[in-house]
Amino acid sequence: MSERNSDIYEPPAAVVAAAHVSGRAAYDRLVAEAETDYEGYWARLAREFISWHKPFTEGLDASDAPFFKWFADGTLNVSYNCLDRHVEAGQGEKTALIFEADDGQITRVNYRELLARTCRLANALRAQGVRKGNRVVIYMPMGIEGVMAMQACARIGATHSVVFGGFSAQSLRDRIEDAGAVLVLTADEQLRGGKRLPLKAIVDQALALGGCESVRSVIVYQRTGGAVDWQPHDHWLHELSAAQPTTCEPEWVEAEHPLFLLYTSGSTGKPKGVQHSSGGYLLHAALTTKWTFDLKPDDVFWCTADIGWVTGHSYVTYGPLALGATEVVFEGVPTYPDAGRFWEVIQRHGVTVFYTAPTAIRSLIKAVEGQPQTHPRHYDLTSLRILGTVGEPINPAAWRWYHEQVGGSRCPVIDTFWQTETGGHIITPLPGATTLVPGSCTLPFPGIIAAVVDESGKELPHGHGGILVVKKPWPSMIRNIWGDPERFKKSYYPDEFNGQYYLAGDGAVRDATTGYFTITGRIDDVLNISGHRMGTMEIESALVSCTELVAEAAVVGRPDETTGEAICAFVVLKQGRPEGDDAKAIASRLREWVAKEIGPIAKPRDIRFADNLPKTRSGKIMRRLLRSVARNEPVTQDISTLENPAILEQLGQAY
Ligand code: PRX
Repeated sequence: MSERNSDIYEPPAAVVAAAHVSGRAAYDRLVAEAETDYEGYWARLAREFISWHKPFTEGLDASDAPFFKWFADGTLNVSYNCLDRHVEAGQGEKTALIFEADDGQITRVNYRELLARTCRLANALRAQGVRKGNRVVIYMPMGIEGVMAMQACARIGATHSVVFGGFSAQSLRDRIEDAGAVLVLTADEQLRGGKRLPLKAIVDQALALGGCESVRSVIVYQRTGGAVDWQPHDHWLHELSAAQPTTCEPEWVEAEHPLFLLYTSGSTGKPKGVQHSSGGYLLHAALTTKWTFDLKPDDVFWCTADIGWVTGHSYVTYGPLALGATEVVFEGVPTYPDAGRFWEVIQRHGVTVFYTAPTAIRSLIKAVEGQPQTHPRHYDLTSLRILGTVGEPINPAAWRWYHEQVGGSRCPVIDTFWQTETGGHIITPLPGATTLVPGSCTLPFPGIIAAVVDESGKELPHGHGGILVVKKPWPSMIRNIWGDPERFKKSYYPDEFNGQYYLAGDGAVRDATTGYFTITGRIDDVLNISGHRMGTMEIESALVSCTELVAEAAVVGRPDETTGEAICAFVVLKQGRPEGDDAKAIASRLREWVAKEIGPIAKPRDIRFADNLPKTRSGKIMRRLLRSVARNEPVTQDISTLENPAILEQLGQAY
């Protein structure tokens, strides 16, 4: 690391004075409380943060480990907790969502209206035959209706599976089939960066691919009014909702009832359906929103993540609404109409807590060079109090720019580490309690027992890099991989650790003096492209499924200044190695192929062709070598086991 990151930032006195967790001693007390009475700690918070229909009497049930249960005999409704209880408490007129559309149009919805509209949609889903435990796929743009769709599912006990609008028909089909969804909610089109992109047409294609016979109806939100092909099973959302009453009795579900599935990449070709609970999940979403962002009733919170990712679940749809907060929901992209859009939105709505991805910050830093008028200094950002980042490591230079240029050196920068599987933050600073060090996500959230261990599960002394684990089950953790409990056990509770520790899949090192955690990156074959998780095997299987052209493919990542990592594919074609324009044309065809199979986010940045891949004599692809080649670094590894050393020279020739 050439960047200096030795400086430290104490929490500002004004933040400490008013913070929910005020001062390091308060943090230490919470950690001690959890250490002394782990279940009691979580049960206390579960009573404080959730309105239970039937109170639970039991905290953790580990009788079927690693399939842990929390608060299992309690019942609740997540949407009741996010909507009704605020209206009942007299907060109905409080703004829940400030929707800023791609084109700058603004729509405000208060809690009373959001509840009424959610109830209408929930009734419409029931009228379509959707029942508790049924799965509903949501393939919708960022917006009020997307949030409502998730809340409406929660209201009737249907398990939603949101699929990001950038995924292809093939990916959507796979997710519909794996979940056995009975209904799909979508929109005619989505608007991003001034462009209209089809959604309904992709749903049509996905269903036409076959295997989705479980789907009985498709509900379409009219976002743009663009033309759509109409099928007999299609219904307009506004028509179905208009016919329904504005009240809807919530379905009271057990705490362990699956609130949602969210598909994410692992180290095989097939994405896994991460299954989350209702009670434990909601607790952590609400608790972390309150403590990590130090959220107060008059804050204006803005998390820029799409509802298609877990960040949009926990910090758009569930956490802020469970707290009765006011939040911005943004449809667009950071660079449209120009790279000042984020700052403009913050200024316009008086955003006080802002949460985004390092990749967005880095791309805006870069954009300032060409568009100096988009520098944050040209906007009034004095409303900001707290800044957060998520999804990938934030390099110290970007951290400091964010702190100084966006936060005016007043706002703590909260680098939150977590995963789709963890449901919410697990290692993160707290604004009024933690001294910050750029590049470190600092310390575990109180109640999360994280450690760095070696391959045998032995805890390593601070200062030694190793494998990040969580030593005790916590309420918002993944419950299962949908339909694949064996894979769940193997992926997260491997035998190497005697099935005792949750394996995050990341490497980490703790600072020798402070014990602070720094995440060193994935230890499996998962890449992080602009904060989006992609499995190398998934991209490889997409490439080799182009059977007409591809004989073999290997995918690795290389560091990229803006996107964190870039995808590099090494491809062996059936026709032999192409050259010149031929190579260019085939590379571009393969990129489009991957976009069609998975989605544009999976398109390889570099494609290199070769007659063969570097393999050991036993036929194993030597990925370490490919990583060096992808980085254009000299190969320093031992290549004595390499069967075909000459191939390295050929691979070095980039297209
Ligand atoms: O590698 C870690 C990285 O993102 C992975 C989780 O990705 P996903 O499940 O898509 O969830 C992203 C949003 C929570 C992790 O295994 N990651 C996430 N946050 C950080 C991070 N790496 C370093 N620092 C972070 N703050």
